[in-house]
Amino acid sequence: MFKGFTRVFTHTERLQNCVSPFLRNNVLCARENKMGSIGYIFMRTKKHDRGNPSALFIPVPVKPNPDDINIGEEFTGRLKKQDLLKILNKFYQKPEIRVLASDNGLDDQLLHQAFLSFRRHCLEHDLPPDLHITISDILQGAGHVDDLFPYFLRHARLAFPHLDCLDDLKKISDLRTPANWYTQARSMNRKIIFHAGPTNSGKTYHAMERFLTAKSGVYCGPLKLLATEIYHKSNKRGTPCDLITGEERRHASHYNIIDTPEDSEDSPEKETKSLLLDEAELTPSSHVACTVEMTSLNHSYEVAIIDEIQMIGDRGRGWAWTRAILGLQAEEIHLCGEAGAINLVEEICNTTGEEMEVRTYKRLTQLKVEDSALGSLDNVKPGDCIVCFNKNDIYSVSRAIEQRGHEVAVIYGSLPPGTKLAQANKFNDPDSSCKVMVATDAIGLGINLSIRRVIFYSLIKPIVNEDGDKEMDVISISQALQIAGRAGRYGSAWETGYVTTFKSEDLATLKTLLSKSPEPVLQAGLHPTAEQMELYAYHLPHASLSSLMDIFVHLCTVDDSLYFMCNTEAFKFLAEMIQHVPLPLRARYVFCCAPINNKLPFVCATFLKMVRQYSRNEPITRNWMCNAVDWPLPAPKTIMDLVHLE
Ligand SMILES: Nc1ncnc2c1ncn2[C@@H]1O[C@H](COP(=O)(O)OP(=O)(O)O)[C@@H](O)[C@H]1O
Ligand SMILES: [Mg+2]
Repeated sequence: MFKGFTRVFTHTERLQNCVSPFLRNNVLCARENKMGSIGYIFMRTKKHDRGNPSALFIPVPVKPNPDDINIGEEFTGRLKKQDLLKILNKFYQKPEIRVLASDNGLDDQLLHQAFLSFRRHCLEHDLPPDLHITISDILQGAGHVDDLFPYFLRHARLAFPHLDCLDDLKKISDLRTPANWYTQARSMNRKIIFHAGPTNSGKTYHAMERFLTAKSGVYCGPLKLLATEIYHKSNKRGTPCDLITGEERRHASHYNIIDTPEDSEDSPEKETKSLLLDEAELTPSSHVACTVEMTSLNHSYEVAIIDEIQMIGDRGRGWAWTRAILGLQAEEIHLCGEAGAINLVEEICNTTGEEMEVRTYKRLTQLKVEDSALGSLDNVKPGDCIVCFNKNDIYSVSRAIEQRGHEVAVIYGSLPPGTKLAQANKFNDPDSSCKVMVATDAIGLGINLSIRRVIFYSLIKPIVNEDGDKEMDVISISQALQIAGRAGRYGSAWETGYVTTFKSEDLATLKTLLSKSPEPVLQAGLHPTAEQMELYAYHLPHASLSSLMDIFVHLCTVDDSLYFMCNTEAFKFLAEMIQHVPLPLRARYVFCCAPINNKLPFVCATFLKMVRQYSRNEPITRNWMCNAVDWPLPAPKTIMDLVHLE
């Protein structure tokens, strides 16, 4: 059935246009579901092996045809296995066969695999009559060994279904003109405004002023924390605004019931209340704050803000910014971020035919680099924020400061947004006794903190390189500027900001980093869409999602003057973990986009339990979740217990 279907729709556009949404979403998914259990048909290549995509394919087992019941034998007598083997090996050794195979899309690697599969098939099963007769003829000198080629090719195409549709696959993964993927956005003439400037220059503030007065708006930020801050600000200023992040959804009406601005810490009681509200009965507000990955491209807005636009070049998440810039349906799009991204965004706007206006901003407050390093935690003063790039440092530094009698606020990436916000509020509150903060670079992006002095505990940070491996490296100019820029807050007790390092040997490096302009962002990230993966799955029904992604990345064409393919290792890791759970492809894709820390077995196990629960079509309730994670958890005694708790 599906094979016939392939033949009818040979061109991707036709396939995309003709296959109704019902077919795309249901038939293809059902098929995925059914075939999902067949197993993997790919070989994991090493991360560095970017060479031959053929290495990704291993042959699908070819089943014998039950109709091939020795009819050939009745005509020409039984074939001796030895003779058969001799003929087949002779066939494979001929250089002409290599040329013919290559003309038909089989390079040496595929030819070898296909031949092994063909030989095994011929030796282990009854041959189809036509092949039986051809081999007999060759044995008797009445035929030529080259005559085997059509039979071999027939087998190779069954073993490697992609050979039949390689052109289609390449067409699906032709990513050279991503602007054309978003037809609705292309039919609008959007106004693009780039608010460029250093940290704390009022970029987000100015974009927000426009957002608040618009009839409708969407804010897209890099962190749940920032989206939550905008949700609070907007509702506080009387513009009802919903919150949508990968973790939670809050309606504007929840704001008055639950989130008084002063009480932003998540309490279990509050969570229960929020769960009691019937989401289905609520009308979405005309304003929404979301994390950039969650941005809906199906709604139209008067104003959209895409914050921290320089993250379009992030190796892992850049695709979400590219998607938002190209696909958002908004009359005005406000981009906030570093000037280093202006040229790239301008070139992207050239591909959409839209004009861009640049508004530049200067820091509202002064920032001074101190002449000496902190040297010792004894020198910590009120308004100091010590920035560490490693969680163990966070624990040891905050404990050491507490032992010196200071109350400490702590912010790091994996804390829940409500807790982060509560810690930020405690630190920002002029009446609070908490005057020192210890944080990771999670504070580098957007969040407003009343910091007097930023102290870099170290300048070395783990980074993910192009191959998806972690390396330790000195922080980038952009990171140094972002983090240092947090010192000094307009309108607070600490208007002038100071910055220094903990170790004196780091101070010169910090000064050099801060004296430079941020590196220009040269390329924007791309990622295959769910639709593209569905089309791939349609052509390669035996392939796992991880394998589809691998093949996609190898076959895709990207215009590297503007774009790059984002790292897909995290996606593939999750895809492999949940491959055995029966799911429609689209749901599988969405699950694999979840930002799961694959280093934490507890997190992975809970994720898998959730996926299974979804697959059984059973609700993921609070009680279910408590059972799944053995809630309430005992108080942590060691650092590992604490990590487990998070
Ligand atoms: N014109 C302004 N009037 C009042 N407050 C401002 C103004 N511009 C900026 N701010 C405040 O200064 C701080 C930094 O502004 P923000 O827009 O977050 O900077 P950026 O986005 O450039 O890092 C915020 O607390 C913001 O509310
Ligand atoms: Mg900002």
